[in-house]
Amino acid sequence: MDLIIAANWKMHKTTAETVDFCQALLQNESLFEGVKVLVCPPFTALPAASGVLRGSTIKLGAQNMHWEEQGAFTGEISASMLLELGVDYVIIGHSERRHLLGEDNRMIRLKVKTALESGLKPILCVGETETEREDDATEKVIKKQLVEALEGLTAENVHSLVVAYEPVWAIGTGKAASPADAETASSFIREVIRSIYGPKTESNVYIQYGGSVKADNIGSFAVLPSIHGALVGGASLEADSFGTLIQAARKAVIS
Ligand code: PGA
Repeated sequence: MDLIIAANWKMHKTTAETVDFCQALLQNESLFEGVKVLVCPPFTALPAASGVLRGSTIKLGAQNMHWEEQGAFTGEISASMLLELGVDYVIIGHSERRHLLGEDNRMIRLKVKTALESGLKPILCVGETETEREDDATEKVIKKQLVEALEGLTAENVHSLVVAYEPVWAIGTGKAASPADAETASSFIREVIRSIYGPKTESNVYIQYGGSVKADNIGSFAVLPSIHGALVGGASLEADSFGTLIQAARKAVIS
């Protein structure tokens, strides 16, 4: 299985900054062989990113979507609007949306379902808060997030699912999970998926680790048996250092 490394820019970068980043990243494209690289800009920068990245191996992701096809949903964006721009992936249920914007597992389930039915590959984010971890509730929380997000979906539906394990306490704090803890949580995610869909489906699901991933720690996550890549926030904002991070992951896996 390849690695899949995604840049989650959150609310950063104008259209002009996006064009500069994408052009700079493309300079190093040949060094990313064997790694699926994707860039997830804000909605407003998707058309520009799509224009620059067209024809390259670098894929485009969105940071959110609504589950309805169209209608009176002020401020929302549908799957077909994303597909029209050449978007392949969509981040769903990021902890910032869960905790700052009130997204719950029901909304996340509807989004995952619509994404899969529309041909978008969802990156479903799960992970515990610091308090939940201290209460020894990590597995319980992750299981509930997964089971409720996947309810009603068949093995066929989830063939292109990506799950990002992102402990909330590790996001943007500079305090990444230890590789051992990331592996324990990710192998538990695999166990839950296997118990619902069986081993064949489970083995096709990519799991990313996210939370303070940098060029100097990506290698220790990339080599873990249950993990195949990363969802990167802060360290994805500069094309050069993001390129270095991708190469560090590749090197760790090859060596
Ligand atoms: P971070 O963010 O790399 O800045 O910790 C990761 C994420 O929120 O996806």
